[in-house]
Amino acid sequence: MLVNPKLPTIWFGGDYNPEQWPEEVWTEDVRLMKLAGVSVATVGVFSWATLQPDPDTYRFEWLDRVLDLLRSGGVHTILATPTASPPAWMAKRYPAMLPVDAAGARFAHASRRHYCPNSPDYRRHTRDIAERLAARYAAHPGLVLWHVDNEYGCHNAACYCDQCAAAFRAWLRRRYGDLDQLNAAWATAFWSQRYGDWSEIDPPRRSTADNNPSHVLDYRRFTSDSYLECFLEQKQILRKHAPTVPITTNMMGWFKGLDYFAWGREVDVASWDNYPGPFADPAQVAAKHDLTRSLTGGVKPFLLMEQTPSQVNWSTHNTLLRPGEMRLLSYQAVAHGADAVCYFQWRQGPGGSEKLHGAVVSHEGSERTRTFGEVSELGRELRAISEAVAGSETRARAAIVADWPSWWAAEQLPTSTRDLSYVGEVQRYYSALWRLNVQVDFVSPSADLGRYDLAIAPTLRIVTPETRDALERFVRGGGTLVLTCGSALTDETDRALLGGFPGRLRDLFGIWVEELDPLRPGMANLVRVSTPRGDWQGEYSCGVWCDLLHLEGAAALATFAQDFYAGRPAVTEHRVGKGRAIYVATIPEPQCVNDLVGALCRELGLESPVPVPDGVEVTRRWQGDRPVTFVINHNLFEVAVPLDGRYRELIAGVEATGSLMLPGRGVAVLA
Ligand code: GLA
Ligand code: ZN
Repeated sequence: MLVNPKLPTIWFGGDYNPEQWPEEVWTEDVRLMKLAGVSVATVGVFSWATLQPDPDTYRFEWLDRVLDLLRSGGVHTILATPTASPPAWMAKRYPAMLPVDAAGARFAHASRRHYCPNSPDYRRHTRDIAERLAARYAAHPGLVLWHVDNEYGCHNAACYCDQCAAAFRAWLRRRYGDLDQLNAAWATAFWSQRYGDWSEIDPPRRSTADNNPSHVLDYRRFTSDSYLECFLEQKQILRKHAPTVPITTNMMGWFKGLDYFAWGREVDVASWDNYPGPFADPAQVAAKHDLTRSLTGGVKPFLLMEQTPSQVNWSTHNTLLRPGEMRLLSYQAVAHGADAVCYFQWRQGPGGSEKLHGAVVSHEGSERTRTFGEVSELGRELRAISEAVAGSETRARAAIVADWPSWWAAEQLPTSTRDLSYVGEVQRYYSALWRLNVQVDFVSPSADLGRYDLAIAPTLRIVTPETRDALERFVRGGGTLVLTCGSALTDETDRALLGGFPGRLRDLFGIWVEELDPLRPGMANLVRVSTPRGDWQGEYSCGVWCDLLHLEGAAALATFAQDFYAGRPAVTEHRVGKGRAIYVATIPEPQCVNDLVGALCRELGLESPVPVPDGVEVTRRWQGDRPVTFVINHNLFEVAVPLDGRYRELIAGVEATGSLMLPGRGVAVLA
C-alpha cells in the first residue's frame, strides 16, 4: 500500500529548516535538491517561534513561499507541527508548562522538548498552531504527509509536576474505578502504602527507598498515554482539515518511554529515526526497522524519517560513517519495508548545538562534497528501483513477542539481576533469526499469532489472561512457541503470579519453576543438550539467570551441567495440541540460541530466500505475488551469491544469473 498515491515512489529527502537561512539560500537549496533527486522535504519541525513570535502574532507568509518554492522544484512537503519546541514567551507567561523532574526541579527554556504533556496552556497552544497550519496548508498541492511534533518523549519522557499528578489521578480513576481496586492492584498493604483518598496519590517522585513498582509501572503507562493524547488531539485537527493526507510522528525504535504498540494503532504510517554509529551491528539495526514496520501490522511499508548522511553530533565520538555505509544502511531500511529514505538534515545549521551534525549540504555549501555525491547517487538508484518496490508488502512467518510493560517491569529496581537487559534478550533471539535471513514481525503479547509458524517470547515477564489465551491458541493450532527465563512472573500491575512460576503458563509449558538463580558476574553454568536437534548439540555456556524447574508433562531437551542443580532441566519441550511450547530456563551464549533457533527453523521450513554466505542479509518484499529480493553484503569483502534462476538486478538494470558477485558493502535488488 502506497504511503500517499500522490507520490507513488520511494520518498527521498529530509529535514529542511529554511527559517535558519536568508531567502536567497532557499533558491540554492531547491537547485541542489533537484540535483540530488530529492522528492520530499520535512518542513517546520522546530519553527514555532518563527511562526508565532509572540502570543498574538502569526507569520505564515515565509512558509507559504517555502512550500511554493519546493513545489516549483518538484519537491513535496512533509509538514510538521512545531510543537516539540515551544517559544520562549510561553514559558515566561505560563511557567507551569515547563516539565518537572522526579526530584521536583523544573526544567528551563533553553533547549527543546521542554514541555509538560499535561499542561493545559501548552496543550491549548498546540491545538491553536496545529489548527492554523492545517487550515492554511491542507489543500496545498505539495503536501503529502503530516509529521506531528518530533520524537515524542525524547530527552525526558516523564514529567512529575502537579498538573501531571492531577491528570494521573483522573487516569487511575478511569482505570480502576474505585480505590479498593487500586490498593489491591498496587499491593499497597505492603509498607503501609495504602491510599485512603485519590488526592493522596502523587507521581512516583524521588523517594527514600524503592518506589512501589506497580505505581511506577502505571506511571509509565500514564506517561505514554499522556503523549499519545497530545498526538491524538493534533491528529484530529489535521484530519478534519485534510482527510486524505496521512499522519505520522517519528519514533525511535526501542524507546523505553513510550509503548509504541499503542502508538502504532494511531498513526496512518509508522516512521522512525535511525542513528546507528559506524560499524554498528546490522542485526540491531534490522530489528528496529522490523519493529517500526510491525507497529502498523507488519505488512505495509514504514518511513525512514531521519538518518545522518555522514555523522551525528551527540555521541561521545562522532565518527563518520565510512564510504558506502550510508548507502548500505539506506538499502537495509528499504529491504525491511521502508518506502522513504530521509536525512537529518538537508543543510548543516549555521549555529546551535547541532551545527556540526552531518547534513546533505555542508557549511561549505556546494555540491562538491563526498557526502553530497553519495546522497545524490543513492537518489538516482532509488529512482531506478522505485516502481518495483514502492508500496510492496513484507510477509513474515516468524514473530517475536515484545511488550513494553514487561520491559518496564523487568528492569524496574529492585530487579532479580541488573545484568538482564530486556531489549538485549529480544535482540539475542532476533539476531539468531536474522543470521538465517528468516523475516520477523514483532507482535504484542495478546496479538493473534495465527499467520506465524514460530513465535519467540523472550523474558515475557507480564502475562495476562488474554496473553495466556493467545499463546495457547497459537500452540494448540500448530505453532512452535519459545519462552525464556524471567517470563510469567507477574500480572499487569507487576504483582506476583501465585501458584508457582511460570504462573498462567505453567500448564501450557508443562513445567514448574521452583526457584530463580540470577548469577553474579563471572559465574556461569553449562547447558548440556540431551536431545540434539540439527546443529544444536553438545554443551554451551550460560549465565546471568538460571531457573530451577520441575517437569510437569514437558520433556527435558537439555540440562544444566554444573552447580547444585546439575542434571536439572535447562531447555524443555511440551507438546500441546498440534504444536509445542519450548522453555529456555537460562540465558545461553549466542551460539546456543543460534543453533536451537536454527534447528527449529529447519524443522518448520523457514529459510533464507537465497542461500548466502555469513554476513549477507536477504529479505523479500512482495508486489502482489511478485517478490523483490534484497541481498545486502555487510562484509567488507566481496562475496559470491549463487542464484537459482534468472533475475533482473534493478539498481544497475542488468540481468543476473548464476553467481552474483557482491563487493564489500554491496547491494543487489533482484526482481
Ligand atoms: C533526532 C531529532 C533531530 C536531530 C537528530 C540529530 O533524530 O529528531 O531533530 O536532533 O536527532 O541526530
Ligand atoms: Zn507535568
